[in-house]
Amino acid sequence: MKKKFLCTLISVVMTTAMLAGCGGGAKPTDAPAESKTESTKETDTADQTKTETKEEDAKESGESIVVGFSQVGAESDWRTANTSSMKSTFTEENGYTLLFDDAQQKQENQIKAVRNFIQQDVDYIVIAPVTETGWDTVLKEAQDAGIPVIIVDRMVDVSDDSLYTAWVGSNFLQEGYDAADWLAQYLDKQGRGSEEINIVTLQGTIGASAQIGRTNGVEERMKDHTNWKMLERQTGEFTQARGQEVMESFLKSYDDIDVVIAENDNMAFGAIDAIKAAGKTCGPNGDIIIVSFDAVAAAFDSMIAGDMNVSVECNPLHGPRVAELIQKLEKGETVDKIAYVEEGVYPADTAEAKKPTREY
Ligand code: AHR
Repeated sequence: MKKKFLCTLISVVMTTAMLAGCGGGAKPTDAPAESKTESTKETDTADQTKTETKEEDAKESGESIVVGFSQVGAESDWRTANTSSMKSTFTEENGYTLLFDDAQQKQENQIKAVRNFIQQDVDYIVIAPVTETGWDTVLKEAQDAGIPVIIVDRMVDVSDDSLYTAWVGSNFLQEGYDAADWLAQYLDKQGRGSEEINIVTLQGTIGASAQIGRTNGVEERMKDHTNWKMLERQTGEFTQARGQEVMESFLKSYDDIDVVIAENDNMAFGAIDAIKAAGKTCGPNGDIIIVSFDAVAAAFDSMIAGDMNVSVECNPLHGPRVAELIQKLEKGETVDKIAYVEEGVYPADTAEAKKPTREY
C-alpha cells in the first residue's frame, strides 16, 4: 500500500500549491478563493501519533504513506486546532507525506482537491466535508481508483456507504441534546423553569453535520419545553464576523432575547461583542444567556471573564484517531465504520478549574 513518494515532484505537480498557514488563529471569515494545496512537513509535539512501529519501518525503508487531506477551511479556533492535530500527526518523522488542501469552506474546492489526490495516486484520502450531500460521484471515482477514503469530523450523506472506509467524529445530535438539557437545568435553578424564554440561534454552515445535529438536537428537546420560543434562526457560517453581524440584526429585531444558542464558540464571541455594543450584558450575571459549542480555549477565557454561560465540547484532535485507522488498514485489520468521540459539557462555574486541563 505504501508508495515511494518524492516531495519535490509533488510540489511541482500540484499546480494550485500555495502554502496555507497552520499555526495562526481563526480567520474572521473565509475569503472566497481557490483551495490551497500544500505538501506539509510541519511538526507539533503537542499531539503525538501512536503508530511508531509501523512508521519506523516506513522511515527505514525510505517509503512513506501518502495521505491527501481535504480540510474544510480555517473558519474557527476549532478548525485551527483540528488542522494542527492532523499536521502534527501526519509528519515525515511519523512515516507520512501529507498533502493538505484548504477548501476555503467550499465543497467545489474539496471535490477538485479529491480529484487531484486521485491523480497523484495517494495511499489514503481523508476528507473533513463542508456539507453532507454531493459526495457520491467523487467518492465513486476514489473507489474505482482503489484509494480508501476516511471521513473525519462532519459526515457525508451518500447512497452507498461502501464509498468510504470509515468515519470518526462527534455526535452532533447528542451535542444539541446536551446544550438543551443544560439550559433546562440552568433555568430551573434560576427559578425560571416555567417562564416564557425567547431564544435566537446562530446556526453553522447550513447542511454541515455540525449544524444539522445541533439544530435538530435543540429542536427535539424544545418539544419538552413549550414555554421556550425560538424567535429566529440564521446562519453565521461558523465565523466570528458573521456571528456578530447576525446577532446585530437579531438585536435590532427583538428587544427581549433571553438566550443565544451559538452553534460554535467563534459565533458566540461575535454575538457577545454585538450584545456589548448594543449596551446589553450577557453571561451568568447578565441579561442574555449564551449557550455555545466547541469548548475551545478562548471559550474558557470568555466564561472566566463572565461573558459565556456554557460550551458543549466538540473535540478536534482527530489526527491520532485517523492515523490509528490508517495503521490498522495497513496491517489488513478491519476498522469500525463509525466511531464517535466522547465529549463533555463545560458550564462557566467549572471553567477556571478545567482550563489548565484543556488541550486546545
Ligand atoms: O464540524 C465541526 C465544527 O466546525 C465546529 O463546531 C466549528 O467550530 C467548526 O467550524
